[in-house]
Amino acid sequence: MDKKIKVLLVEDENVTHHAICKFLLMNEYECIGAKTLSDATSAVKNEAFDIIICDVMLPDGSGLQLLDSVRKFLFNIPFVVITASEKKRLIQEALARGASDFLTKPFHLKNLPTIIERNIERKKLENFKNNHKKASVLLKAIKSLITALEAKDSYTSGHSVKVARHARLMGEVLCLSKNDKFTLELSAILHDIGKIGIPDNILHKTSSLLEMEYKTAKEHTVIGSKIVGKIDELQDVAAIIRHHHERYDGKGYPDGLRGDAIPLSARILAIVDAYESIVSDRVYRKHKSSEEALQEIINNAGTQFDPALVMIFADVIHSDFHESKHKLRIEDESKDNIPANNNI
Ligand SMILES: [Fe+2]
Repeated sequence: MDKKIKVLLVEDENVTHHAICKFLLMNEYECIGAKTLSDATSAVKNEAFDIIICDVMLPDGSGLQLLDSVRKFLFNIPFVVITASEKKRLIQEALARGASDFLTKPFHLKNLPTIIERNIERKKLENFKNNHKKASVLLKAIKSLITALEAKDSYTSGHSVKVARHARLMGEVLCLSKNDKFTLELSAILHDIGKIGIPDNILHKTSSLLEMEYKTAKEHTVIGSKIVGKIDELQDVAAIIRHHHERYDGKGYPDGLRGDAIPLSARILAIVDAYESIVSDRVYRKHKSSEEALQEIINNAGTQFDPALVMIFADVIHSDFHESKHKLRIEDESKDNIPANNNI
């Protein structure tokens, strides 16, 4: 059976709220309801949705603030704004801020399925078109960005290539689509590009970072996503970069997203990134073995990492270890040339 389309409905007016939710459930949609801006904001941080339908006037703020948050998280999700028919300026503003469509009150419930399907299909089509352009833009982008990063921190470059390799293996085992595999691998290569914007004294510090320094270092996720996000066709890559340090329990950064609300590729990247950091030398400690690193990842399943993905990653590492034992030995021997780094 096809997975149901999951709708987040943000509407404070009780009668309308119940009528829409009831109609959606009867028409085989999954409907999660929120009546305030704060409830809706926490819902998008904790769950993944296929589409958001949101009233503009909410008791504790505006639906446009939710739209801003969703677009700030770089979620490429259809966002339909509900507003009163006479408020044309509001509709224009919503569209300018990234809304995909609008519904004017009063509207017929029977039109909802068409609006939902239309917006989801339009997003799919947009992504499909973007993906075609992506490949050529991509090679140029990678070259210039990686060259810039290598000039600043050669450790990151070596690290990113290794992270990309495990990300590719994960993508294959998870049977991701060709496009998703490509996006994941590209995100893995570029995930730490934001370190370009972090001062050298923080990046290369040999002792533990002070609180303020750690706060600055964490900015690499936002800086990286802004750099890559300048390219329209790479919005999905930018989102993965932004969220590669989110934690499964919601205690990560920069947005404190939790569980499935974190894009799948970002959850994968968090695991392969951490693993590669542990098996690499740092200034304050030598690298750990593959087995020790894997154990550390397993110990953090369910808190830092997606437990289902950790199980798959363990299988990937085990089979990869047998296949490339010889190759890994050669990589280990050359590791002394890699400058160590704080794991940020
Ligand atoms: Fe990072």
